[in-house]
Amino acid sequence: MSPRWEARADVIVVGTGVAGLTAALEARELGLRVLVITKAAASAGNTRWAQGGVAVVLPDEHDEGDSVTAHIEDTLVAGGGLCADDAVAAILADGADAVTRLRELGAVFDPGADGNLARTREGGHSAFRVVHAGGDATGAEIERALLSAAQDGRVPLLENHIAVDAVRTATGAVVGLVVLDQNGVPGVVSAPAVLLATGGLGQLYQATSNPEVATADGLALALRAGAPVADVEFVQFHPTVLYTGPGARGRCPLVTEAVRGEGAVLVDALGERVMKGVHPREDLAPRDVVAAAITRRMATEPGGVGDHVYLDATHLDTELFRRRFPTVLAACQSIGVDPSADPIPVSPAAHFACGGVASTVDGRTGVIGLYAVGEVARTGLHGANRLASNSLLEGLVVGARAARAIAADIAACLLADPRAAVRAPLPTAPVADRDVLQRVMSRYAGIGRDAEGLAVVGSVLDVSAVDTVLKTKQRVEDAALTLVARALIAAASARTESRGCHVRTDFPDSDPAWQHSLAVRLNPSGQPVLAAPTSLRSAA
Ligand code: SIN
Repeated sequence: MSPRWEARADVIVVGTGVAGLTAALEARELGLRVLVITKAAASAGNTRWAQGGVAVVLPDEHDEGDSVTAHIEDTLVAGGGLCADDAVAAILADGADAVTRLRELGAVFDPGADGNLARTREGGHSAFRVVHAGGDATGAEIERALLSAAQDGRVPLLENHIAVDAVRTATGAVVGLVVLDQNGVPGVVSAPAVLLATGGLGQLYQATSNPEVATADGLALALRAGAPVADVEFVQFHPTVLYTGPGARGRCPLVTEAVRGEGAVLVDALGERVMKGVHPREDLAPRDVVAAAITRRMATEPGGVGDHVYLDATHLDTELFRRRFPTVLAACQSIGVDPSADPIPVSPAAHFACGGVASTVDGRTGVIGLYAVGEVARTGLHGANRLASNSLLEGLVVGARAARAIAADIAACLLADPRAAVRAPLPTAPVADRDVLQRVMSRYAGIGRDAEGLAVVGSVLDVSAVDTVLKTKQRVEDAALTLVARALIAAASARTESRGCHVRTDFPDSDPAWQHSLAVRLNPSGQPVLAAPTSLRSAA
């Protein structure tokens, strides 16, 4: 391909969520020439939809007995035996400093009655340690603060530019990106370092808490660039998105877990408690436990046709609900539900990719010049099931660390020279129809999977995918969804046990023999295959 336009930088950051913007700002502070690209508007990503908050143990502002050690322990328990202990310890230890830096940039968190930051609790946490902003608008406030710091003219930002593929050298190092501009015109951005902060993959499913941009682009790009991905079978379903009627599609409004943190409880159509007797923490059990319990309860409706349960918050103080949960309240009101009088109809929906591009806690991947941070990365923090509100924290901590790693790698001359780039044509990749893909993924690869259903997904993708030149944004996204669906199916089929968010109906128990991560990479013909068993724990 001869590019119709070109640009250069020291580091290209792809994505404008918490992790990408944090990395871009830190890289700028370190004197690097940064270019940020994003395929939509800068504010269109997942960060602004995050409600609950940032899980962090602040010095001198924590519950009696709470500590970073307790936060680590809760993270490991939620992660179902698959967290990388060293990554968990490294990331959580940096949490308080990361929140302090964010506040210095202007983010305003909600104060509590004692003048300290207000703290709430979410599923899987043994203490009140989730700080929040705007009641339930934490992501929006973080994004506002980071974007306003970045939009001072010193961090160039290309909106509506989608990364198609990595530009590489003959030895496979990444030295830039092929990008389609806002008119679909292909160009090349050259840089010795490319940092993926592209977010998640919720659009693999029909119903998700994620916005429409969450199409797994970064994962697919990394796979095609030769990087392994890991833990991709662990897709976390949020237990409670607002149920708006049968056959919900696309982004569904989140009903933050913090509503349960303040005392709301899940009930079925008969008013019976869903979480009673299921877990010692009942409604504040880890998220995978709650989502699976709701799914089981829905299946016991007459004919197994239940598609929602209820979150009963009617006993909460009306003023507290209005102040703490303005976003949830507005979403409820938009469908005629008054949470002070009516139980809120809710159901689980795809929410968060616990796995991703295998990365260190400094964002380094298995490919020289390629870095990954935030939801697209798998550092080992989340294991088989992410602890609530650990993701904004991970984005803040690892975003900054990755910028420092890139600066160090450039200074040490470890990266390749973009002038050694091998120019290639716009790539061709299999593309399946998005609607078909979302249907089969939702039916067979959500909560409750089995070998037969996973094989159906594989066959449908094989039959329906057509090789297509990636010359439009839609094609790039659909190719990413197709490739990542295949990678997920490969890992989910291989993992013949249930663990965390990966619930196999044909293998309902955890198997100690499976207490290790699975890596997937592309074989020479571009098919996702399991990589040789490797301990990813050393990645930290
Ligand atoms: C929530 O507020 O329930 C979601 C927060 C998260 O996913 O960590």
